[in-house]
Amino acid sequence: MKVKVLIADKFPEQYIDELKSMKMEVIYDAALGENDLPSAAKDVDILVVRSTKVNAETINQSNLLNLIIRAGAGVNNINIAAANQRGIYVANCPGMNSVAVAELAIGLMVSLDRRIPDNVIDFRNGKWNKGEYSKAEGLLGKTLGVVGVGNIGKEVVKRAVAFGMNVYGKDISRIEGVAIKDFSEMNKLLPICDIISIHLPATSETKGLFNKEMFSYMKKGALLINTSRADIIDEDALLEAIKEKNIRCALDVFKGEPEGKTGEVKSKLQDNPNVYITHHIGASTNQAQNAVAAETIRIIKDYVSSGIIAHWVNRAKTTDVHYQLVIKHFDKPGVLATVLEVIKEGNINIEEIENTIFEGGAAACCTMKLKSEVSTEMLKKIKSNPEILSVSHVAL
Ligand code: 3PG
Repeated sequence: MKVKVLIADKFPEQYIDELKSMKMEVIYDAALGENDLPSAAKDVDILVVRSTKVNAETINQSNLLNLIIRAGAGVNNINIAAANQRGIYVANCPGMNSVAVAELAIGLMVSLDRRIPDNVIDFRNGKWNKGEYSKAEGLLGKTLGVVGVGNIGKEVVKRAVAFGMNVYGKDISRIEGVAIKDFSEMNKLLPICDIISIHLPATSETKGLFNKEMFSYMKKGALLINTSRADIIDEDALLEAIKEKNIRCALDVFKGEPEGKTGEVKSKLQDNPNVYITHHIGASTNQAQNAVAAETIRIIKDYVSSGIIAHWVNRAKTTDVHYQLVIKHFDKPGVLATVLEVIKEGNINIEEIENTIFEGGAAACCTMKLKSEVSTEMLKKIKSNPEILSVSHVAL
C-alpha cells in the first residue's frame, strides 16, 4: 500500500513532484485550515504543515497518522501533548530558514533606524519630508542584545558584527569567531542595549517574557525587534512602554495573526506609529522554503526507508530508567521471547530496548533499560536458557 502524505500548506511544486516520484500518494492542498484538518488528515500516514494549526481533534480523529512534519522551525502550532498520547512522531526542520529570518531581523533594524516604511508611506501620499527622516541614529557601534542565540540568533549575530555593532547574547556561551559577550541576566542585558532582537521559541518559559518588568529595564528610545513568536511579548506592556519610554518596535508576529494567507487583519498595535508590522514573512524566501522542503523530503525518505525520524521533537528527553540489562544471545527465533516472559512475570516495565546483531548473524546483543531491578531469581531463570550467552545487569 502506498504511503499517503498530506501537505496542508504552501510547498514548492518541485518537491511535491519528488515525493510523487517516490511512489507516494501525495495530497497537496495549501488552502486547508485548522478546522479542515480533522477530516482531511483522517486517513493519511504523514501530515506536513507550515503554520496551519494541528489541534487535538485532528490527532485524535486520525486513523493512520504516524508522523507530523513542521516544514519550518517552531512547533507551537502542533498539539504535541495530543501527539504524545497517540504515539505520533512530530519532527521539524531546524536551521533551514534561519538565514531568511535573520535577514528580515536585520532589515527591520535598518527600517526602524531610518524609518523606511514611514518614508515610503509619506512619499506614496505625495509628502516630502527629508527634514524629519534625516534624524536617524546609525547602527555602527550601537549595542545589540540578541535574546535567544540558537540557529537564527547566531545568524543575526554574524550580520550585526559585520555592521560594526557591539553584540551581547542572552543564555549563551561564547560563539566561536563572533564578538559576542555572554550575559545571562535580562536586568543586566536590557539596560545597555540600544536594540534588542528576540529569537526564542514559544514555550511555557518564554510566554509573556517581555512584560512590564522587562520593559522597565530597557533604555528610553530603544528599538525592539521580534521575528520569533507573538506570545513572547505582552502587547499591553509594550504599548505602555511605547508611551512611557518611546520604545519603537518592528514585529513579524503579533497576537491574532490571521490563519489564511490573505484577508482582513486587526491588532491593537495597528495604529501606533512606533510599531512596524510585517506579515509573518521571516521564513518566506524561496531559498529558505526550498531548503525547508528538501529537509522535509529527507525526513520522509528516512522514515519510510528506515523508520528513523530525523529532528524528532517529541521523543522523551529522559525516561524512568534505573537499571540496564544486557543479554547476549544466539540470534534465533523465540530466544528473546523467553527473556521478555521472565521480565513480564516480574512486572518490570521496559523503558527502552535495542537488539543488535554481530557480523555473520550467529549472535546478538539486546540492551534493555528498565524501571526496576531484576531479581537474582529472575536472572537465574534467564540464564538457564542454553541459547543465552551472557547476562549483565547493572544499576544506572
Ligand atoms: C518557523 O517557525 O519556521 C517560521 O515561523 C515560519 O513560519 P511559516 O512557515 O508559517 O512562514
